[in-house]
Amino acid sequence: MKRPPIFLTLPALIALTLGACQDANDSQKTDSEPVSDSPAIQEEPFGTIDGQEVRLYTLTNANGVQAKITNYGGIVVSFIAPDKNGEMADVVLGFDSADEYVSKESPYFGCITGRYANRIAKGKFTLDGQEYTLATNNDPNHLHGGDKGFDKRIWKAEPMETTDGPALKLSYTSPDGEEGYPGTLETTVTYTLTADNGLRIDYQATTDKPTVLNLTNHSYFNLGGHGSGTILDHELMIAADRYTPIDETSIPLGDLPSVEGTPFDFRKPTAIGARIGEDNEQLKNGLGYDHNFVIKDSRDGKLQLVATVHDPESGRLLEVESDEPGLQLYVGNFLPKDEPMKGKDGKEYSYREAFCLEAQTFPDSPNQADFPSPVLRPGETYTQTTIYRLKVK
Ligand code: BGC
Repeated sequence: MKRPPIFLTLPALIALTLGACQDANDSQKTDSEPVSDSPAIQEEPFGTIDGQEVRLYTLTNANGVQAKITNYGGIVVSFIAPDKNGEMADVVLGFDSADEYVSKESPYFGCITGRYANRIAKGKFTLDGQEYTLATNNDPNHLHGGDKGFDKRIWKAEPMETTDGPALKLSYTSPDGEEGYPGTLETTVTYTLTADNGLRIDYQATTDKPTVLNLTNHSYFNLGGHGSGTILDHELMIAADRYTPIDETSIPLGDLPSVEGTPFDFRKPTAIGARIGEDNEQLKNGLGYDHNFVIKDSRDGKLQLVATVHDPESGRLLEVESDEPGLQLYVGNFLPKDEPMKGKDGKEYSYREAFCLEAQTFPDSPNQADFPSPVLRPGETYTQTTIYRLKVK
């Protein structure tokens, strides 16, 4: 989708935003009108889920870059940014309404994934001597929080103007036992669109019983624009010396071998497709790249550049910063090979036409004592920050 860039000086943007926030407070919300005329944050209906109305929030920065986020699943529906010629395009896959995320069985497009992103072997884990059983929704394993994970919940939304840019704070209380996980989990996820075209995601959670968690965002990117074809020509760098090889059901084997001399060495920018067809057992197990890379050994809260992706054609460059120990690379191996999926704006999506870089702790950590701990205890606060920043090169 091409949109003209909006140019505004910062003082003008702030003045408009403050005025609009005032208007939003004063005026009555209606279904058909945005609550504010602010160029920075707009709100509109996005459909109905289980009889409850959900909303779409558009965050816009002074460069005209936009992130559209719904409080259904905390899904990033659009991320619109310029290419090297200033042409705008939406670089994430998605659907036009909340209802379509349900009816088309979204493969986790853009959502907040939890309570435990990625897989837990056989849907079982033991914590403090007690065994817990979760849904095996990705037979034979548990995937992305189960049958009704955080991606399918309606979150409370608070749009806010912050000094870092327009933001949307989402909150969700997951009751004790939901999807089989122990503890009442109070979760907030704040999306902020920064002045340097970063979509910053700050996660926070507390619990009233010991539990495990692993939150991430599951955006599917195509830097040429969603629906523009393969991503195999995108050049990827991942700042990881090691990775977690998997079995045929995608559960980590437990060792952390070097990427040296393997198709998993992305320490220097390399086309995603350059080695994906190699005769390699790990590529067979993942049906392509669907692996966690080891950024560091523990959750130390330090933000660093973990990956870059460059699309030579459009010139768009994605930088990923994260404070998580792991980064899952998934390249749309399960997008349809024959009949394409119908997405937003009449676009179609097929096999390997998007990539995900999911900042997280390692898969199956609740069952792997040597992996960074995914355990959260009462009195502790879980935090996680990821930034997806769009530039041109
Ligand atoms: C997983 C894939 C899975 C996909 C679901 C990714 O995070 O690694 O195996 O198919 O999510 O869309």
